[in-house]
Amino acid sequence: MSPINVKLQKRMNIFKLMNIEITNKEWLYMLKDETRNSIMIEGFFSDEEELEKIIAGNHRSSNEAVNYFRTAKNFYSIALEMHKTNEDIPCLSIVKSIHRMLFENLVDPRRLGDFRYGKVIITGSKINPPEYDIADWVRLWCNYTKYVFERYSPDEASARSHVFFECIHPFEDGNGRIGRILLNFFLIKYGLINITVKGMKKKERERYIQSLESAEKGFIGILNQVPKKLSPEFVDENIKEEDIKPLKDLILESLIEAMDRYICIFEKDFVTTQEAARILNTSVDNVFKMISRKNIIATKDKGRWRIPRRFLMD
Ligand SMILES: Nc1ncnc2c1ncn2[C@@H]1O[C@H](COP(=O)(O)OP(=O)(O)OP(=O)(O)O)[C@@H](O)[C@H]1O
Ligand SMILES: [Mg+2]
Repeated sequence: MSPINVKLQKRMNIFKLMNIEITNKEWLYMLKDETRNSIMIEGFFSDEEELEKIIAGNHRSSNEAVNYFRTAKNFYSIALEMHKTNEDIPCLSIVKSIHRMLFENLVDPRRLGDFRYGKVIITGSKINPPEYDIADWVRLWCNYTKYVFERYSPDEASARSHVFFECIHPFEDGNGRIGRILLNFFLIKYGLINITVKGMKKKERERYIQSLESAEKGFIGILNQVPKKLSPEFVDENIKEEDIKPLKDLILESLIEAMDRYICIFEKDFVTTQEAARILNTSVDNVFKMISRKNIIATKDKGRWRIPRRFLMD
């Protein structure tokens, strides 16, 4: 088990003292950002006006963006309650219900929540997702996810869990979006916050897909076995740290960014980069470097950095 990243630990210490609430307006804007990126990975564009309407609570229709937003909001609230009550996750039902809500009014209602029948191909991947026993595979995935979250730092656990879900590819369509919603579901359940996997730019999508390609290597020899006979420990032994690293790093960066944004929602006293330079007795250039290395907690708002004074000296 690798030690927890110090920059992440710093944010986690602040998070421990916070009473996480996820339905405030700022958080809804974070969710809008996540939606826009997540559906763009699939090639769907979101209509800003429509997302604004759903934030305001007056949108009834269905499309990829609206359904993503609604589903994420709903399941992240459930995850937050599960975090607070410390109740166990009825994981298979959660996975199926996410599919149900994500595709509501978009596919034949009889297919909502249904795992796929037969083969599926992941374009460009060397992985052959299992053909049979999909429910057993998802059950194994659930146990595996709980196992890794108990054992690894959240970034490492999320990476291991996310790639396994994508390798199983349990549904005919929507596996990427459902996998990313589940990733966030578990982050919230374990006391953290939902991240945005960036996908607006071609480069960002490529980075995400390439990191999955690297991470999936350990699963090639597993997916042709009988899931009922496999344990989380066995699955985990097949995954090499160096293969999972690109996906772990991507998640770590996104997580730090999301946590900083979330922390800043509740701060009132911010300093500018100039003021920060004066306080830290350094150059403004150096402050920019510290921000980009995530040594300082900060968020960008309309092109300007906002730095909460409280955590500047930590
Ligand atoms: N090489 C790979 N190994 C494992 N998983 C992969 C690989 N390449 C892509 N994926 C996953 O497959 C997803 C696409 O699957 P699918 O079309 O079922 O989901 P989607 O939600 O409709 O699409 P998208 O995730 O692109 O929005 C990608 O988003 C990614 O998460
Ligand atoms: Mg698709």
